[in-house]
Parts: sequence; structure tokens; C-alpha cells
Amino acid sequence: MIMKNIGKIEFIDNKGSFKVEKPENTSYLYYPIAGEKGLKGCVTPKLGGDLMVDQETFILEPVSVENLHNNRNTRNFWLCMDDGKVWSATGSSAEQENNKFTDKQDDSLVTAGFMWHKAIRSNNEAGLTAEVTSFVPVNTNVEIMSVTIRNDSPKAKTIVPVAAIPIFGRSADNLRDHRNVTSMLHRISIIPEGILVKPTMSFDEKGHRVNHKTYYVLGFDENGHEPESFYPTVEAFIGEGGSFLKPRSVYCQKPSFKAGTEIAGMEAVGGLRFEKCVLTPGQEATYTVLIGVADNNEEIEDISKLYRDNKNVEKELTYTRDYWRNKVNVNFHTQDKAFDQFMQWIAFQPLLRRVYGCSFLPYHDYGRGGRGWRDLWQDCLSLLFMEPGEVRNMIVANFGGVRMDGTNATIIGEGLGNFIADRNGIARVWMDHAFWPLRTLLLYIEQSGDYDILIEQVPYFKDSIVHRGNLIDKKFENAENKQLVNSDNKEMVYEGTILEHLLIQNLTSYYEVGEHNVLRLRGADWNDALDMANENGESVAFSYAYAGNLRELAKLIRKFSARCKVNAIFVASEIAALLDHAQTTEEKTRLLAAYMKTVEGNLCGEQIAIELSELANKLESLAESFTEHLKNQEWIKGSRGTGWFNSYYDNSKRAVERYDEDDEKTRMMLTGQVFAIMGDVASDDQIKKITKAADKYLYKESIGGYRLNTDFHEFKTDMGRMFGFAYGEKENGAVFSHMAVMYGNALYGRGFAKEGFKALNTLYQASMNYATSHIYPGIPEYFSADGRGKYPYLTGAASWYLLTMITEVFGVRGQAGNLSIEPALLASQFDKEGRAGISLNFAGKRFDITIENPENLEAGTYKIKAASLNGSGIGLEEGRLVIPREIIDKLGSQNEVIVRVE
Ligand code: G1P
Repeated sequence: MIMKNIGKIEFIDNKGSFKVEKPENTSYLYYPIAGEKGLKGCVTPKLGGDLMVDQETFILEPVSVENLHNNRNTRNFWLCMDDGKVWSATGSSAEQENNKFTDKQDDSLVTAGFMWHKAIRSNNEAGLTAEVTSFVPVNTNVEIMSVTIRNDSPKAKTIVPVAAIPIFGRSADNLRDHRNVTSMLHRISIIPEGILVKPTMSFDEKGHRVNHKTYYVLGFDENGHEPESFYPTVEAFIGEGGSFLKPRSVYCQKPSFKAGTEIAGMEAVGGLRFEKCVLTPGQEATYTVLIGVADNNEEIEDISKLYRDNKNVEKELTYTRDYWRNKVNVNFHTQDKAFDQFMQWIAFQPLLRRVYGCSFLPYHDYGRGGRGWRDLWQDCLSLLFMEPGEVRNMIVANFGGVRMDGTNATIIGEGLGNFIADRNGIARVWMDHAFWPLRTLLLYIEQSGDYDILIEQVPYFKDSIVHRGNLIDKKFENAENKQLVNSDNKEMVYEGTILEHLLIQNLTSYYEVGEHNVLRLRGADWNDALDMANENGESVAFSYAYAGNLRELAKLIRKFSARCKVNAIFVASEIAALLDHAQTTEEKTRLLAAYMKTVEGNLCGEQIAIELSELANKLESLAESFTEHLKNQEWIKGSRGTGWFNSYYDNSKRAVERYDEDDEKTRMMLTGQVFAIMGDVASDDQIKKITKAADKYLYKESIGGYRLNTDFHEFKTDMGRMFGFAYGEKENGAVFSHMAVMYGNALYGRGFAKEGFKALNTLYQASMNYATSHIYPGIPEYFSADGRGKYPYLTGAASWYLLTMITEVFGVRGQAGNLSIEPALLASQFDKEGRAGISLNFAGKRFDITIENPENLEAGTYKIKAASLNGSGIGLEEGRLVIPREIIDKLGSQNEVIVRVE
């Protein structure tokens, strides 16, 4: 047996497109393809994977990662040849499986770009090459599989093609729940173009519903001819005792069905047998297979009419490619070309998350679609650069999810601002949730200069869950799920400013403390898997974060007041209680309880004015005293110049981290460090100690760098399920990209460019090291203990990576709506000519920004010495370039900025 090497990733253009040879020699690979109208799915190198609209509407059988090598019911395209041989154009046949890792293995290659995937394979013995291109048009809910077969042999070849796409056609829940019974609901019709499956109904615990959707697989040859005959069911296709790897219909040329046939109650296949075709040497034939679901037959007819013409398929492919390429409108230029292409993927990933939510790719085999609260806000970060038009509306609408007690709705429906009450009244409070909105809003305001958003009036969410999840009572609910206010003996929906929402969120969080006067962990914080310390657990990590937020909020209020010339704002009178004095745990608990009591039902209807300068002073003093408290109580002194901050208290009220002379017993977590740095709690000197400690206890270069924690060697049931995970997996000590990137971001933010670069760069190196990471380009959610990239594509890490590269590394950021540039690029990031560049949109204008560093100086040692905008010199502000908004507004659409550092 000859073991064929696994390939390597090679980029083939400047928009992230790449190729990789022998992709099927790597396990767990999959690639996302989706449109903007709801259809999404993934394809593996051998065209496995699934396709769906939502949880209830799976066209292809739902797959989790293990199914990628277990399942045989992939999208297939068979070729029966005149000599009786059979070859699968997608590489999924018993022979091809058998020939794997031998010198008879097909030559294969995947080449792909945003939302399109081409699997190419050829086989000498068969004398054929097949190219299968898969994509979903941007605006039409159909997956198109375009298959081109070429005769590579010196003789004419007769082929009979058979496309075989098993149709699942029902809810993902039916994979285990009544799979067989639900197949009895299927009504299968053969029409001239292909197979339709319209189940009579769907049923689950929600009840019985008549079904109106039709699932379909249609096909045409390049002349628009329909298939000659069909295999509409699994039984007909695989034959008695057959399998999807050796379907008897194909191998034994079994008789097939004709259009007009109707079959009821069986598992379905879109089996399309095309007319015999003779290919002269070098000649090609192209087939189109359409896979989808529609609400009515007209939709299917329209799609079938359109794509029957192969030219329309080609046009659609070009449009789709261009559409997604243009969406990614941030480009980087550094000395490392592969990095610049990697960044294209980083920029694309947040768009994938917008489309897929946190479900619907094989690793993401949980959730029923939709995104969580935290993701909603973080995804806005990158959209602010790429799709800024919609972000203001999104932010305003998202604040409508906040409850008057500072918590928020956790079920987020489709569309803007659609928050849904949990009918089961399951209250879970993630204590970090109130942290993110301010972060996103700050970035938005800096980018746009739109301080007025702070006084935008937004309603509050209301359901039966009150007292920050501690009390559930239906009497507090109303039909609209909105906070009401009593007004002239009537009830009205209450609306308050966004600033008021922020105050409530951050102050209620601040007062909800545990025994150590640290914010309670509640159901969990950012780390969803710290979910077993609800009673006594405390998140010091997010206490640092909220201390930072209080400071930022104070600054924001001052700026807003100065800029908009506003001295006071009106807030609901109930809020006054949140500005009372409370210092100890007992005082804070009492204060919060009193406040929550006043907002459990309708508000009283009075508003009071608060002075903004006083408010800012108050917030600052809270931030300062909290910071001091945390600094004194939570610092852990290590040996040899190391030190770090404790991140948590467990349910047994013990600090979770510790230093021990025996390194095995030392416990360190990354999260606390990130927020102590980001929240300005750690001093510069402490940051130096933290980075030393992180390098010593958490850093492992070969698997992406900074791990989330050391090995606790303990299943800590007083902390969370994360300790049930094997060490090195997911939230237990993996290199969890999201937190590792935020570590980088925090370090850059405090002027530690070299250290920040190390965090980002190791992640990049590990991601792109295909031999170990086994993933296509992009950043995965995490790297396992052996360096495999897990949960690729859908991760908040991408938003943060992009944000950090733009605003910190290149230092291109909005500053009250002006464009400020202050790079922190390392010398090694400049190309041979001493240049680095970034192109992006700002304030609706395009900017190509070049940073010149002729003397190859290191970050921290250079300052901007000269700058030009469209060829004319422009003044500097203390080593920083700031282009005022008034100037930007007068610029044309395309602009060039050159900045020289010395
Ligand atoms: C995921 C979730 C995120 C959560 C994190 C840690 O991270 O999306 O909300 O905070 O796990 O539990 P992501 O995959 O976005 O990096």
C-alpha cells in the first residue's frame, strides 16, 4: 500500500480562493455554501454534507462531524461505462474507497472561494475527469451542482450518468425522533425534470401540522434535456442488499421508473438517469443538478425553467462569486502574502455567522438556528467595517432585548429586534451579557461620530422572568412582551434612552455580588461551560470587564454631554435607586433587591432628570473603588517575575486559580487576564508579569498559542461542565481562538504590540498549518490538544481578529467620526520595500492606506512623521494622523492615504 500524502493549502488569487490536493485524505473537512435567502449547507471533498433552510426544513439528511466519514448517502454522480465499469464522479463508490491510499487512488483536488466549491477528480483507468461545482445562488433557494465530465482516454467513450441525491425532506428532529414513521408521510412524484417529495404533514411535540413544502432534485444535460428515467426511492436505488457505495441500480443496470409515477411512504432519492452519451477523446459533457425546497410548484417551475439553460447556471455562478468577493471589502498587505489571504477568510467568517447563526455546520450540531445575545453584539463589530449601513438599526433594535432588571431576552427570533419570551419560563442569566452592548456601541459611535444614538428611545423587553431570573410569574407578562408604564390610569409601552439601557445593564451587573464582593457568575459568563456554580460562583474575570465598562461609560457620557451640549437626561425615577450608596456585599444586595422590586411590574410613570457630569463622576468613582478592591484582593504572585489575576470563585466559594511551587498544581486561566488588561485593572507592570505567566503556563506554539487554562486534573462539579470535557477540548484548556484573540486585542490596546502580535500570529500559523490543523483557511473556534482545528467558520474569534487587525495593528479607527491612524505594526510585518497596507471603507468612502517604514523600525519606537491624502500633505496630531470628518465628507469615493513612520 502506498500512503499518499495529504496536500497543502495554496491560495490562487487575491480573494482567498485556494486549492488543496487529495482533500479526502483529511478527515472532518467541510465547506460552507449558502445564499442570502435562507438556504445553507456544506459540502465535503466527496460531496457529503447537508443542506437546510432551518431546523424544520432539511433537504439532505442532517450531519454531525462523525457522519462525514460514516454516511454513504452523499450527493453522488455515477457514470456507467460501456465496458460495464462504474465510476463515481464524486469519489464515493466501493472501488474508490478500496483504492484509497493505494496508487490506484483518483487524483483529486478541491478548489474553492467564498460560497463556491469545486471538486475535481480523475482516474486513469476510467479515462475520465470530473469537475463538480457546487454553490447556492445569492437570491434563489436552490443548491446547484454543475458536473462536467471529460473523456481523457484516446478512445470514444459511452457513458450513462446517474445523479443520486438522497432526499431527507423533513425536520432535523426526525433523524432520531420517528425517522421511520415520518418516511411514511412522504409523497413522491416523478415529473419529467426530476423527483418531488411533499410530505403530507409534520408532527412533533408542537402538534400536527399539514405540510406545504416540496423538496426536489431536478436535472438537465447541457442541452436542457431532462433525465431519461428515475430512481425515486432508496429501495429502488440501492436494491435489495445494496448500499449507496454500491447501488444495485447502477451496478446491475436495474430498470428505472418513468415520469408520471407516484410513490407514497418511502425514503426518497433524487435518482436521475440521463441518456446515454458518447464522448470523443477530449470531449466534455455538462450536467446540472438542482437540489432544493419550495413553498409551491410555481417556484419549482421557475427555477427549473431558469437553470435548464446551462448558460444561466454559469451566469449565476459568476454573480455569486462576485457578490461574496465584494462583500469582503477589507484587504490587507503585509510581508506575508498567505497572511493577507488568511485575513480575507477572517473577514468572511462573520458573514458566515450572519448566515448560519451558531448552528447548521457539522461541528455545530447544537442549537436550532439563531444566535445568542452575545453573538448578536459581537457580530456587529465586524459588520461595522463590512456592512455598516444596517448596523445603526441593528444596535437600536437589539437594545430592545434588555429587561428593566438589566438582564435580557435570550431567545432571539428572525429579523431585527425580534425577542421571544421563553414559554417554558426557563431562566438562565449569563452575567457577561450586559458587558457587550456598550463595547459594540462605543465602536459604532467612534466610527460614526453619532453620539445622538445615546438618546434614541427604545422599549424594554418584558416577560414572566423578573428579579434577574430569580422570580418567574406569569402576572408580569403582557402580550407585547414590552415593559409597560402606568400613565393617566392607562398602561403604555415604556421607552427609555439607550443611555438609560446602558446604565441599567451595567449598574445592575455591578451590584449583583457574591461573598467576595465580586460579580456573581450566575448561569455562566462568556464561558458557557462554567455552568455549575450558580449559587456561590463569582466571575472575577467579568468584574474586571465591568469595572472597565463603568469607566468607559463615564467617558462616553462626558463626551456626549460636551458634543451634544446636553447637561442632563431624563430616566425612569426607579433608576435613582441604582445611584445610591452601597459598598459591602450586603449593601449592594439590598440595593439591587429594592430596585428589582420597583421594576417587576409596570413602572410608576415618573421620570427624573440626572446631571450628566454628576453621573459620570459617580460611575468613575464606582469604577475606581471596584478596581482597587479587585487589584488588592485578586492578584496572584507567581515565581520568577510572574503574576496574574484570579478569574473565578467556585460554588464552594474558593478562588479557582493559584500559584504552587509545584507547577503541576498551579492553576491559571486566560479569561481573567484578558479582562484585567482590557478593563484597565492591571497596571503596565502587572501586564508584564501576566504575559510572562501566560507564556509559562498557557502557551503552546504548535497548537495556536495561549490555552484557556492549565490542566486542573479535576472534574470540578462546583464550577461547570467544562471540567467534564477532556483537557484540551473546547472550553477546557483548548487554545480557544475567541479568548486568545481578545488577549491579543487587550495587549495591543495597552501598548503591548509585540505580545499582542504573538497571540494573533500563533493563531494564524496554527490555522494555516494544514498538516496539523486539518482545516481549510480561516480561524477555527478552537485547537484541540493535538492542534486540530475544531468548529471551523462560525466563531466570534473572526470578528475580534478583524477588529484588532484594523483598529490596533494598523491602528485605523474612528475617533468621534474622524479617521485616526496610528499603526502598531511590527517591523517584521512590513514588506521588503518597508510598506504595509490596508484598504477599507470608512464613512462611505474607500481608503487605500499605505504605511511606509523605510528604516524598518519596531512598533513602539516609531511615530508618524509625514502623511498625505490623495497626494497632498496633511497635518499630524502628536504622532497620529487624524482626518476630520468634514474633510472626509468632501472626498471622492476612492482615496489614497500614505503615512510615513520614523
Ligand atoms: C462560542 C460562543 C460564544 C461563547 C464561547 C465560549 O464561541 O459562540 O458565545 O462565549 O463559545 O463558551 P465562538 O465559537 O463564537 O468563538
